Amino acid sequence: MGLETKTLKQTTEKMIEQLGHLVPEFELKKKAELVHEINELKKERGAIILGHNYMEPALYHTVTDVVGDSLQLAQAAADTDCDPIIFCGVRFMAETAKILNPERTVLLPAKVAGCSLAESITAEDVRKLRENYPGVPIVAYVNTYADVKAEVDVCCTSSNAAKIVEALDSDVVIFLPDEYLAKNVAAETGKKIIVASQKDHGPSAGSKDFAVIGWAGKCEVHDQFTVEDVEAARKQFPNVQVLAHPECPPEVVEVADFTGSTSKMIDKVKSSSASKFLLLTECAMGDNIVAENPDKEMVRMCSVRCPHMNEITLEDTLNALKNNERIIDVPKEVRDKARKSLEKMLEYV
Ligand code: 13P
Ligand code: SF4
Repeated sequence: MGLETKTLKQTTEKMIEQLGHLVPEFELKKKAELVHEINELKKERGAIILGHNYMEPALYHTVTDVVGDSLQLAQAAADTDCDPIIFCGVRFMAETAKILNPERTVLLPAKVAGCSLAESITAEDVRKLRENYPGVPIVAYVNTYADVKAEVDVCCTSSNAAKIVEALDSDVVIFLPDEYLAKNVAAETGKKIIVASQKDHGPSAGSKDFAVIGWAGKCEVHDQFTVEDVEAARKQFPNVQVLAHPECPPEVVEVADFTGSTSKMIDKVKSSSASKFLLLTECAMGDNIVAENPDKEMVRMCSVRCPHMNEITLEDTLNALKNNERIIDVPKEVRDKARKSLEKMLEYV
């Protein structure tokens, strides 16, 4: 047997051993060929593959060098000497990698891979808010595009948002663009919040007393989870532990047993003595946990998916490596300003 055939056989066997209880063998055999080719080409090119926790199991567990939440991937992108960086995640994350490590080529294996939060706000919106609230510090969730990051004072992720808001030397903070995350952070930090009106960039009618100013952006995935879902799941599975991502509506976070970034949710499941979990987040993450922890059981709510994260496939990852597609470029003047907001965030870690 030639070396090539032997390595492909080893890849297939490993994938069947790790994922055979989740994914049918015939599919794993097909995917193993792609995985094998990606890993060979990655070595040849000196590339690194970063994968968000939402990637499908046959990609997440096989071709990635680093997996994690937005913060962990931003740190990995900033620290790597490898070139190119293949970013298996969405566009704003790949942009963040480029901003933090501009000398490297960053490739996104997708045509668009957008995000409803990133699309909810423009740089012009931020400039208007700054005009209307002079002197108020502006925090942007990393789920924003580079030109928005360039206009703000500091970025944050779901994993460090409360810490950063608390550390700012101001009673009033503008927190963009996720309304729910802003409200969840306000609840955690004890601050009150208003949501700025998207029409006139001022406070919404009826709000007088505030410390965090939000924006009415929503994650189209987490916005779908409801208190009724949690109650129905608890009725059917009385011992289920409910974990909610902080992009979920505040009333959902309130009834959940735990809230945290995607990696914090994973760590919580791993360290918990419970065996059954409902993850209020993109469904692939539950599969990724079960692949490594077959003793854990997930109540699956897979009708709720992130179409943007699901644009990333093994086929396109191979294409990225073969044809340098698609290169993420951020103009230098935007990059330099956005980098300051991201580096400020990394100082808090
Ligand atoms: P995390 O930073 O928690 O991984 O969240 C990213 C995201 O887009 C969740 O929808
Ligand atoms: Fe954006 Fe929501 Fe998809 Fe995360 S899950 S990338 S916040 S649309």
